[in-house]
Amino acid sequence: MQIHKNHPLKDYNTFGVEAKADFFVDVKSISDLKNILSDSKFKSLPKLLLGGGSNILLCSDFKGLAIHIDLRGIVDLGNGLISVQAGENWHDFVMWSLDQDFNGIENLSLIPGNVGAAPMQNIGAYGVELKEVFVELEAYHIASGDIHIFSKEACSFGYRESIFKNTHQGKYIIVSVTLQLQTNGAVNYSYGAISDVLSQKGIENPTPKQVSEAIISIRQSKLPDPNEIGNSGSFFKNPVISNSDFERIKKQSADVPFYPSSDGQVKIPAAWLIEKAGWKGKRVGNYGVHEKQALVLVNYGGAKGEDIYKLAQEIQSSVKEKFGVYLQMEVNIIH
Ligand code: EPU
Repeated sequence: MQIHKNHPLKDYNTFGVEAKADFFVDVKSISDLKNILSDSKFKSLPKLLLGGGSNILLCSDFKGLAIHIDLRGIVDLGNGLISVQAGENWHDFVMWSLDQDFNGIENLSLIPGNVGAAPMQNIGAYGVELKEVFVELEAYHIASGDIHIFSKEACSFGYRESIFKNTHQGKYIIVSVTLQLQTNGAVNYSYGAISDVLSQKGIENPTPKQVSEAIISIRQSKLPDPNEIGNSGSFFKNPVISNSDFERIKKQSADVPFYPSSDGQVKIPAAWLIEKAGWKGKRVGNYGVHEKQALVLVNYGGAKGEDIYKLAQEIQSSVKEKFGVYLQMEVNIIH
C-alpha cells in the first residue's frame, strides 16, 4: 500500500476541483484499511474518505489523510441476493444487474458515485429509492476495527438520509452492501418523464432495460456529465415544508409544483425555488448554476471549491429572502 504525499484530488471529486491532500492512500482490502487506520503516523490526522467523489465539495487543500475506498467485487448469492463491495461504480453495477436479467434498480441508472456511498444518502431517482432493494450492509467501525452489520431498519433511511449522515457520521466506513433484486421483470415507470419518453418511442410494456435507457436519456438531456462539466448532481435537498408555509408560497406563485410528504407536510422542488429566485443558468466566471437544472451547481473548469460554496450560500439567502424557505445542502462541504 503506497502512501502518496501532496496528492492531487482533481480526479477524485466529480466537481473537478483542484485541491490536494497532504497524504493519500488507495485501499484495496479490509486489511489495508485496518493497517492504515492503526498506523501511528496518521492516527491524529483528520481523515477524508473518498468513494466516487460525487457528493463532496473540496473548499481547500485537505490537511490530513485522504483514503480512497477501492474495494471491488460483486457476489451473486442466489435468488437475486447480491453482495457488492463499496468501491464498485454504482452505474456499472446497475448495468451489470440488467445484463444478468435482474430488475429493481433500473430507475437508479446513471447516478454518479460508488456503491458504498449509495446507502449514506439513500440515493433515489424517478420514484425509486435504494432502501426498497436494500437488505444489509457491512461497515468498518473506525474506533474498534471491527466489522458491524447494519440491517435496513438499523440504517434509519429517509429522504437522502441515513444513520451514517446523522448519529454515526464519521464513525463507520461502509465496505459492502447487500441488495435483493428481482427476476420478475416488474418495472416502475409512473414518474411522468419516463412514461413520456417511452410512449414517444412507441413502447407500451417496457422491459427493465428499456426503462433504464429512458432514464439515461432523460438524465443526459437535463444533467451535465461530470466528465465534461464538473458537478455533484443535486446540490440542495428538496425542502419539506409545513402546509401553512406551502399555502403562503402558493399565494405568492400559484404554479409551485409540490409532492405530498409525511405528516401533512409538503415537499417542493428546490430547483423551482432557485429558478424563481433568478439563479438558473447564472454564470460567475468559471462556475455557476446549470442552465437546464437549477439544482445543479457547475464548475466550468478551474473554479475554486470555496467560490462554489459562496455561490451556494448566496442562493440559500436569496431563496430564504424570497420564499422564507431554508435550502439544506445535500453535498458534503469539506473545509
Ligand atoms: N424544476 C424547475 N427548474 C429546474 C428544474 C426543475 O422548476 O431548473 C421543477 C420541475 O419543473 C419539476 C420539479 O422541479 O416540477 C422537479 O424536477 P425534477 O423531476 O428534475 O427533479 P428534482 O426534484 O429537481 C430530484 C432528485 C434528483 C433526481 C430527480 C429525478 C433531489 C435533491 N434530487 O430532483 O437527484 O434525479 O429528482 O427523480 O431529490 C441527485 O440527487 O443528484 C439527483 C440528480
